[in-house]
Amino acid sequence: MDVPEAVGRRRSIRFLLPHKPVELDKIQRMLEAARLASHWGNVSTLRAVVIRRDTADAEVLAALPPPVAGYQIGLAPVIIVWFLESAACDQVGTRLRELVDAGAIGYGPGRRQEVEAKLVPLMESASEILKQPGLSEVDCGQGIAQATLMAVAMGLGTCCLGTGDPDRVRRKLGLPESCRVLVIQTVGYPAESPEAGGQRPRLPFESLFHLNRYGEPFPRDPRVVAELQAEKLLQPEAPLAWREAELAYLQRALDLKGQGLLE
Ligand SMILES: Cc1cc2nc3c(=O)[nH]c(=O)nc-3n(C[C@H](O)[C@H](O)[C@H](O)COP(=O)(O)O)c2cc1C
Repeated sequence: MDVPEAVGRRRSIRFLLPHKPVELDKIQRMLEAARLASHWGNVSTLRAVVIRRDTADAEVLAALPPPVAGYQIGLAPVIIVWFLESAACDQVGTRLRELVDAGAIGYGPGRRQEVEAKLVPLMESASEILKQPGLSEVDCGQGIAQATLMAVAMGLGTCCLGTGDPDRVRRKLGLPESCRVLVIQTVGYPAESPEAGGQRPRLPFESLFHLNRYGEPFPRDPRVVAELQAEKLLQPEAPLAWREAELAYLQRALDLKGQGLLE
């Protein structure tokens, strides 16, 4: 599957086949994709605990359901708890030297002294600030997005879930205090159709993106829109005519009556 189609097909799949296990090598492929995402200073704060519902600790599972559509935890064969290890920022000096040695930044071997005198102290002095919520979360989001696209390309469905009490999840998993639980991601084989009711609504393109200055909409070329439709990045929008019937079917098939959102 090409990148445009994977992006177009990526939508939150809330209805998963509870009985069909996900192969651990597919989860590994997701984690490998996440690991390759960029991070400021190459410090890689993104971490994860992979939870298999069939073997997981009951107390851990009980801490996971989100405030919205919590039934998803009961359906997903695998749940990835993505978290941020802020202590990784302490390694920025080492990680920068690695980047320089890898020839990534453009400072050749002759400029090592400059790296030690200027670049490393600059980044080390910023690392306490960069441990705070902000830039590192952006980097983690990129990693999670890469893992998600990998999952889509393998035919898996996922949904990112917020947690009402991230600190409770952190404690149940035994994570150190330097860690922040970011998002919980369900993973499984979809019980719903690939369309999942259609591409979900978004704010108008022109209201989101600007050219040169704020308030000057980035021009949306209809020719590019048509190309992206052909490449399946842009797909028919929700709700498709038969979505309500599909939801009723899923509710019966997965025995979801009485479990919140579908009531
Ligand atoms: C960080 C994050 C947290 C989310 N939390 C929840 C959640 O708690 N429950 C839920 O059903 N969906 C959750 N979602 C999914 C969004 O609601 C979803 O992205 C939105 O409905 C747009 O649909 P799409 O992802 O299918 O395009 C979350 C998504 C993200 C990125």
